[in-house]
Amino acid sequence: MSDLVIDGAVEARANVNIALIKYWGKAPADRPEDKNLPAVPSLSLTLDGLYTVTQVAFDPEADTDRVFLGGVELDAAGTARARVILDRVRALADVAAPFRVDSVNHVPTAAGLASSASSMAALAAASARCAGLDLDAGELSELARLGSGSASRSVFGGWVAWEGRRAHPVAPIDHWDLAVVIAVIGTGPKAIGSRAAMERTARTSPLYPGWVAQAHETFTDALSALERRDFEALVGAMERSTMRMHASALGADPPVLYWQAASVAVLREVERMRADGLACGFTMDAGPNVKVFCAGADVEAVSRRLTPIPGVAHTFVARPGEGVSVRLVNQERP
Ligand code: PMV
Repeated sequence: MSDLVIDGAVEARANVNIALIKYWGKAPADRPEDKNLPAVPSLSLTLDGLYTVTQVAFDPEADTDRVFLGGVELDAAGTARARVILDRVRALADVAAPFRVDSVNHVPTAAGLASSASSMAALAAASARCAGLDLDAGELSELARLGSGSASRSVFGGWVAWEGRRAHPVAPIDHWDLAVVIAVIGTGPKAIGSRAAMERTARTSPLYPGWVAQAHETFTDALSALERRDFEALVGAMERSTMRMHASALGADPPVLYWQAASVAVLREVERMRADGLACGFTMDAGPNVKVFCAGADVEAVSRRLTPIPGVAHTFVARPGEGVSVRLVNQERP
């Protein structure tokens, strides 16, 4: 146990991650610390340059936690989400005081990448250290998972697997020189969030049991491809996981459809790039954007093919990134 940070604040920085093998569906949970246990294993790559910076300090003057994002105080629902982590930290550290949280997302909203993974990982790391908890990365991953399942993976850099209570690293950043070209698709009707959509899928989709039944084999295929640096096998498993996740969501009642016409156009272009000998593979999450994996050296060639597609607002490139980092700061707010 290190000391409570009484006079200063703790700042943590965490990157977003992208799942190649998807987390979609939760295992049953009875206790608060069982929140967001996954029904299926997932595999992700932590991305450089898309991150959240979060400062946490005790606020003895306040009678409740206060959480600010980009200088604006969150409403009750937003604060409640953060409080799942803050309550667990207070219980583990046996302290009662409220926290003040100041968070800034450096994930452009136009990037269409959820910042919940980076923000919950940063919140877990900063609040734990502020309360004097000396958690190892695995324990931090469990704590981050309570805020958002995918946050369990953002604690680690490089290639990360998540099964059960916590994620663990499976290969470092420099294991493989791969990158992701993200095709940002213009906004359509407002999408349903991942949390509600996976809950609806699990409750109403007759395709959900099939999704769960195949998940472990797809995961182990991807892990073995990653270890061998077999690109074709890795993107094969990634595309199966993506399509089967979306198929299970399409079978929900009412159906969950995240794709726009331009999403399909990008998938078709990926097929054409492959036919032209440019190795690449796609994945999609709870939104219309398409993320295309390729060799680090091929990002310009892939971007050139994706950017002109009608409906693609723009593309940008992300490379493998580090896990969460923490430092002590003085009391100034970011
Ligand atoms: O943990 P959440 O609520 O951010 O859910 C993540 C769900 C997907 O992005 C669709 C898949 C994944 O594994 O990240």
